[in-house]
Amino acid sequence: MAQTSTLRQLGFNARLGLTLIVLTLLGGLTVSGIYMKMHHDNRDEQPGLTMNDIRGHYAGVNVPSPLLGAIERGHPETQSNEARKVLTDWLKGDRISEDYDNLDLGDMSPAEIIYNDCVSCHSAQSTGPDAYPQVPLDYFDQVKSIAFASDIRPVNTEVLAASTHTHAISLAVMALVTGGLLLLTGWPRGLTNLFVLLMGLGLAMDIGGWWLARVNGTVVPMIVVGGFIFAASTGLSLLLVVLDLWRPKHP
Ligand code: HEC
Repeated sequence: MAQTSTLRQLGFNARLGLTLIVLTLLGGLTVSGIYMKMHHDNRDEQPGLTMNDIRGHYAGVNVPSPLLGAIERGHPETQSNEARKVLTDWLKGDRISEDYDNLDLGDMSPAEIIYNDCVSCHSAQSTGPDAYPQVPLDYFDQVKSIAFASDIRPVNTEVLAASTHTHAISLAVMALVTGGLLLLTGWPRGLTNLFVLLMGLGLAMDIGGWWLARVNGTVVPMIVVGGFIFAASTGLSLLLVVLDLWRPKHP
């Protein structure tokens, strides 16, 4: 069921030109992938591009204080109820910085409690089977970085509209051209048609998801899945186009 390839019939100059254009486009796609990772990175204090970064951007998200989370789940088991209550009240209050080593609190200041109850395991120098030096609590800066709940506000409507207007148009045009070229190749129709469908579906899920996420945060995974489907199917389609341009004419 060999499909005749229109692209392969083109003259050498046209095929070379198309190849260079497609390779440039692939380069651009790679760079925008890297840019997106840098852009969304660290919105939620966790290193790397996490789901919360993306959720925060499109839907807004409240990341509870990791420190409070650990204490509320009863960690560490050895801690006295009294000390636990002090830490809990402190973290739920709005004087986290002020009261950290408030001298009026004496032995019951959060700094003292953390020094006595936590630092044996949570210090950069801690060793041993129970130690957790990954989360050091020696200094206030370290404590502070996990003490607060963070409220990530979603991108504002105007910025999202500006982004939609550039992305919806440029990505759709790119997909149209990619799909058009792919349909002119000699690859089996079942394959090329599927890729065109995936590009359309992925793009609509991704950009549609940006807006739906503002109404309902549960659609955020759709943005990620859609973006992945779009990027993968576009990238592969472009590779198929280049391969087709240089396949021998009479196999
Ligand atoms: C006996 C050692 C030990 C003590 C004491 C201890 N921890 Fe931990 N802590 C760990 C270990 C091991 C982990 C990682 C496994 C887990 O999450 O339970 C951990 C995890 C945590 C986490 C979660 C980090 C994350 O990645 O989510 C926080 C926050 C934390 N501890 C805070 C505290 C605080 C506050 C105290 C003192 C009140 C304390 N710990 C006392 C051993 C300890």
